[in-house]
Amino acid sequence: MFVRPVKYFDRTLRTAPDKSITHRAVMFNAAAEGEAIVTNALLGGDCRSTIACMKKLGAEIDVDGSTVRVRGCAKFRDARLDAGNSGTTTRLLAGLLAGRGVTASIDGDDSLRSRPMKRVTDPLSLMGADITSTAGRAPLYIRPAKLHGITYAMPMASAQVKSAIILAALGADGVTRVTEPALSRNHTELMLRAMGADVASDGPTVTVVPGRLRAADVCVPGDMSAAAFLFGAAAAVPGGRVTVEDVGINPTRTGALEVLAEMGLKITTDNVRRGAEPLADVTAERTGALSPFTITAADVPSLIDEIPLLAAVAAFAEGDSVISGAAELRVKESDRIETTAAMIRAMGGEVETRADGMTIKGRGGLRGGTVDSFGDHRIAMSAAIAALGSERGCEIKGAESASISYPGFWEVVC
Ligand code: S3P
Repeated sequence: MFVRPVKYFDRTLRTAPDKSITHRAVMFNAAAEGEAIVTNALLGGDCRSTIACMKKLGAEIDVDGSTVRVRGCAKFRDARLDAGNSGTTTRLLAGLLAGRGVTASIDGDDSLRSRPMKRVTDPLSLMGADITSTAGRAPLYIRPAKLHGITYAMPMASAQVKSAIILAALGADGVTRVTEPALSRNHTELMLRAMGADVASDGPTVTVVPGRLRAADVCVPGDMSAAAFLFGAAAAVPGGRVTVEDVGINPTRTGALEVLAEMGLKITTDNVRRGAEPLADVTAERTGALSPFTITAADVPSLIDEIPLLAAVAAFAEGDSVISGAAELRVKESDRIETTAAMIRAMGGEVETRADGMTIKGRGGLRGGTVDSFGDHRIAMSAAIAALGSERGCEIKGAESASISYPGFWEVVC
């Protein structure tokens, strides 16, 4: 895929529906009593993996356009599950299945098989789960076991790990308390509460009382992590302006907007609507030169998926942007510290990497070139945004990976 540079980027549009919320709406309703309608669902590769897994476990799921009807099932069937490229599907399902009396395996593609799973098998085993991994990676094997509540301090901020523990806790004996070093996205907590679960949050601690779930309809907001690419285009192209309508503004997801504001973009939020998940119309406008930024450990959970994009945009600023406390990037769909740096270097930029982050030496722009996405959707899309503001444009290898989280992305940028 070749992305040409553009002279202006001024758009008002909607973005892909939220991936995290779509996964949860399908998975939790598949485990609930009753029937639910999920509207504006994301039907990218990852969420399709969740739908396929829940069907195999026995839930009745029909897809009609972007509307998904889910009828939950009281008892899951034994199954061999394929989570594809999706860490969220794998880790959340491990927790959901651990105490539900099923025998199941969860496997996926080569990228998924390289990602750490001990972070979920450890706490689930402490709860009494019969779960084993393959040297700490997928495939995972789950057998029936009786679970009990635990008090657990997570070693890393991770919504996937937290969600796995919460889901297992719903089917355990006794109360579970789980604390993260910093609060990660809280979609699981919000949705489970809307489904009648007793899940209480106090800062980074969640307390779960076991109980059943009632089906609940979900209208999925736009994905801030997808919208971030469009705001990134407003930053990379001088005079750029983008309004994304109906995008989720849950504060556990909006860190990238703060970074773009620190770079000098004017960010405005209109038409705020507050449901289980808040949403709004958000505008980003570039009015002058870009300043470099600093991201530290405390910022990382609220922008973890946006770091490749923010790093690419940092090359359009004048000066050094510094990212630290982001070692989690090494265990995403690719090693995103190395693949992000390789992307920026391939376009003529300068980056120094460290174990937990990187420094991007911004020189007010990028030349362009040929970039390998390494099969990682967020690297492919970050390169495309940088290409829009570059001198010569960019050839992107593995561009099709964008459909994992943002089907339709290429129609927006090409
Ligand atoms: C997700 C959580 C994040 C994020 C991922 C989706 C989720 O991972 O990177 O794309 O839906 O729970 P963490 O487990 O590192 O928070």
